[in-house]
Amino acid sequence: MESSSLLTVVLVGAFLWISAIHADSKDDGKVLCTCENDKGTCVNGTCKGDICFYSWVRGHEERGCFSKVYYMEQCFSKVDRLFMHCCKEYLCNTFTTPPPNINGDPTTTPPELSRPELWITLSLLLLITTASMCGLVLFLRFRRAHGLRNDVHGDRDVTMLKVPDGDDPTYGDIFDEFCTSGSGTGLPYLVQRTMARQISLVQCVGKGRYGEVWRGTWMGESVAVKIFSSRDEQSWFRETEIYNTVQLRHDNILGFIASDMTSKNSSTQLWLVTHFHELGSLYDFLQYSSLEPESCLRMCLSVACGLVHLHTEIVSSQEKPAIAHRDLKSRNILVKRNGQCCIADLGLAVIHSQSHDYLDVGNNPRVGTKRYMAPEVLDETIRMDVFESYKQTDIWALGLVFWEISRRTIVNGIVEEYCPPFFDMVPLDPSFEEMKKVVCVDQHKPSLHNRLHSHPILSAIAKIMKECWYQSPPARLTALRVRKTLSKLDHDSDFSTEKLKSDI
Ligand code: ADE
Repeated sequence: MESSSLLTVVLVGAFLWISAIHADSKDDGKVLCTCENDKGTCVNGTCKGDICFYSWVRGHEERGCFSKVYYMEQCFSKVDRLFMHCCKEYLCNTFTTPPPNINGDPTTTPPELSRPELWITLSLLLLITTASMCGLVLFLRFRRAHGLRNDVHGDRDVTMLKVPDGDDPTYGDIFDEFCTSGSGTGLPYLVQRTMARQISLVQCVGKGRYGEVWRGTWMGESVAVKIFSSRDEQSWFRETEIYNTVQLRHDNILGFIASDMTSKNSSTQLWLVTHFHELGSLYDFLQYSSLEPESCLRMCLSVACGLVHLHTEIVSSQEKPAIAHRDLKSRNILVKRNGQCCIADLGLAVIHSQSHDYLDVGNNPRVGTKRYMAPEVLDETIRMDVFESYKQTDIWALGLVFWEISRRTIVNGIVEEYCPPFFDMVPLDPSFEEMKKVVCVDQHKPSLHNRLHSHPILSAIAKIMKECWYQSPPARLTALRVRKTLSKLDHDSDFSTEKLKSDI
């Protein structure tokens, strides 16, 4: 953790501690608040807590109380169309209303600042935040001026990555990052819960062992709601944990909105709310669509970009551990309207940080999808204590996803029907032993149609696939190498199209 962040945490802790002593010296520190919400925490329209709040989220009002441990998270949340008022006097939230100018700008008010320790702590916090921002900007400028390099695909990831080459981010990227990311790890829990409970479920768009996926609406906008089956609750916990603790905003990772746990007729309902993509999963899309080589490349490149973002550890202010997916497949990839894809379902993911020296494999009893399992998973020789092993299994699966896409790509007027990987070697819903025989004993690879070798884009993608399918895990390409090769192909094909146009 950066020293300024550490200082901030210490100061916030000190503030909470001083406040607690201050409150305790007066009475039990609790205050009576007006309570109007649908969480069942009110008794006769009131509740007792450390802090009274009034919240307004896109027209939905709530009043209640919460513990001081939520003070920083809730009272200072900067969320679009949220107004949050916190106070600490007897029934002080009774008559609060949102200010007349609330029209989409984030608006929050901290509790009344009558106590000196509040002023001092907040002034110090402001000073430290300003100083560290200036320091970071100067540091980034210095790095740029001295030609130090970054290595996340040109979008939004900034600074000091583990892998030492790639494109520099522009100043605009860095600026965007500062202005748009906030804490970078999503909305405060109270806001997530409030939003989730304002969703109307409209239509079931998917059903499986995992549970169901619904299209829902929230304030007129479509959202996707994944309702987890009770036997897959560990996937909900894992995915919720990852989205709430890791900075995962990326064009090629499914966008998280909220997680919610409710109790209904004595059973637990687990929801994950994400962006909705009306084209559905890549698996669904490939059933009814065929592609031009350029669209195939765009899709493959976007999946590779998403996987690089997951696999890369970032150290610096926007730090992020490395993540391996462990269940990459066309059903866990969604197709966006712009022809790119995004990766979904982090319920089985493992997390690794070299800088903080940990490997967190979670405790989910679920395993990946057998059809997509790499040989070392099937013969159980995988080194489960080594993070690289999990990334290498993702690469095996990435090759299979590319194969599914390439079959649906038209070259010389020829296209194949959609088939899942190993469709010609194992039955539907294959067993572990059936997959092991094909993948480990016979060492079969999916076959590649001859037409692919007659097109520059498809022959390059076919070569990548083969290099994702080496029996030996370390021999396989890395996600970064796949992305770089595809990016170059993309630039080259743009260039040849431009040239073709100018020749005409
Ligand atoms: N199926 C699964 N997740 C989905 C999403 N986020 N949008 C649309 N369809 C989906």
